[in-house]
Amino acid sequence: MTNSSGKNTTTDAGIPVSSNEHSLSVGPDGPIVMHDHYLMEQMAAFNREMIPDRQPHAKGSGAFGHFEVTNDVSKYTKAKFLQPGTKTDVLIRFSTVAGESGSPDTWRDPRGFSIKFYTEEGNFDMVGNNTPVFFVRDPMKFQHFIHSQKRRADNGLRDHDMQWDFWTLAPESAHQVAWLMGDRGVPATWRHMNGYSSHTYMWVNTEGERFWVKYHFKTDQGIKCMTQEQADQMAGSDADYHRRDLFEAIKRGDYPSWTLHMQIMPFEDAKTYRINPFDLTKVWPHDDYPLVEVGKLTLNRNPTDFHSEIEQAAFEPNNSVPGTGFSPDKMLLARVISYADAHRARLGVNYKHIPVNSPKCPVHSYSQGGTMRIRHSTDPVYTPNSKGGAEADSQRYPEDAVWSTDGQLVRAAYTLRPDDDDWSQAHTLVRQVMDDSQRDRLVSNVVGHLSGGVTEPVLERAFEYWRNIDQQVGERIEQGVRGTNS
Ligand code: NDP
Ligand code: HEM
Repeated sequence: MTNSSGKNTTTDAGIPVSSNEHSLSVGPDGPIVMHDHYLMEQMAAFNREMIPDRQPHAKGSGAFGHFEVTNDVSKYTKAKFLQPGTKTDVLIRFSTVAGESGSPDTWRDPRGFSIKFYTEEGNFDMVGNNTPVFFVRDPMKFQHFIHSQKRRADNGLRDHDMQWDFWTLAPESAHQVAWLMGDRGVPATWRHMNGYSSHTYMWVNTEGERFWVKYHFKTDQGIKCMTQEQADQMAGSDADYHRRDLFEAIKRGDYPSWTLHMQIMPFEDAKTYRINPFDLTKVWPHDDYPLVEVGKLTLNRNPTDFHSEIEQAAFEPNNSVPGTGFSPDKMLLARVISYADAHRARLGVNYKHIPVNSPKCPVHSYSQGGTMRIRHSTDPVYTPNSKGGAEADSQRYPEDAVWSTDGQLVRAAYTLRPDDDDWSQAHTLVRQVMDDSQRDRLVSNVVGHLSGGVTEPVLERAFEYWRNIDQQVGERIEQGVRGTNS
């Protein structure tokens, strides 16, 4: 056989092999022998190729690029990667939520929008979605919510009845459901959608002054969406359409970009703002907190090994660098624990040693050992020590992204503020942001969804849910479904 590459195949240990076609056997017609370890290596490696899917957000893809700060926001944050002119390498991963790793990209679902910034002070991860809000506001409900969007226990099928059963019994979902059932529930491509932190985070400046912030990555390609019909057709003809689109755009040099804008709330405002600013089911209206431009994120490099660079990528909202921090959003605080746990389960305790997850700055941690450790531990392996080991300097890195709190331990909903109801912002979206044709498509999408197997009493509750969002839209949906069913 000719060898045009000039390379001889080797085993995984680098040992040249003599054949990729024939196993070692006793004569040409005899049985294979057990000590054909090359054959065994191939079978064994093959049997272990698959790793567990991410629980939610299993289907996705991503790319590399950079983030460049174009505006001066240093009065709000001391984070080094957010200082004027700074350019930071990034990895991004887009995803759907409920589908498995082979599911169609164009199913109606929120899209994940995860960014890892490889900053000089460690990795900063913004693990957001393409929507500014979420379905629930307490992490106790998250697991149940995801179960309701995935598959039934008995037949393994997805089930609209189960989805609406959950949504209508969790009215705080109304804003996100209204968003999801509208045009933006199926983006035309990942390049044509925005990304939001959704949660409120904190920024801290050099004086220790604190601000509550929300991140908005607005697409420079413009918003484009698919109709339900286009999405259904695409799901049948190219399940990987969004993955392909991103890869091909970058390959042809058509680099997608997003402009980062922030909403910035002075620390003290949070105490008296009419909406709980930490409630993930609500936005801060732009009139109250206008967008402040920060910089541009550009994607310009495709992965070369999907498995090691995208499938093994581990994003975690706990990756927060000096000058940034969390807020008392209960969902966020749960996520700060959940993701690292998921990565240890899916990828192993040393998942941060996988190159795509490794910080691009020096690491001086005291963690040691564990399966698949690659980074070398060095002496001293304990602290405090008098042997020159790394020390924590609270003058240089104060724990300043903090807030005060007090109260008895309870299991309770957030205290309500004057404008904290479940329907108003969903109503604003449907009645004031959407125009007539967008509203028509919203009604048609919901009618189609409810007509796909939703039964009483869930159906009646769904009509009431939509009437609570918008009386007229609710009535149209009921007419549409009752007409369809009769
Ligand atoms: P604005 O009029 O200032 O902003 C409306 C927002 O809605 C814009 O961000 C726009 O995004 C977005 N939008 C436009 N069409 C749709 C659609 N079909 N589906 C989802 N979003 C859409 O109003 P407010 O800030 O007072 O917010 C009013 C409502 O707008 C909110 O209740 C919320 O549902 C929605 N919204 C608000 C956001 C916020 O952070 N304030 C962010 C996104 C949505 P773009 O400019 O990118 O086109
Ligand atoms: C993925 C938990 C809410 C965005 C995941 C994963 C878990 C998880 C366990 C899989 C991680 C992995 O294996 O890599 C939770 C919990 C939540 C929550 C417990 C609430 C309490 C949210 C919210 C958002 C979000 C509100 C968006 C604002 C994402 C994204 C991914 C993801 C984008 C995919 C990350 C990737 O690309 O690898 N979530 N999640 N999640 N979640 Fe959440």
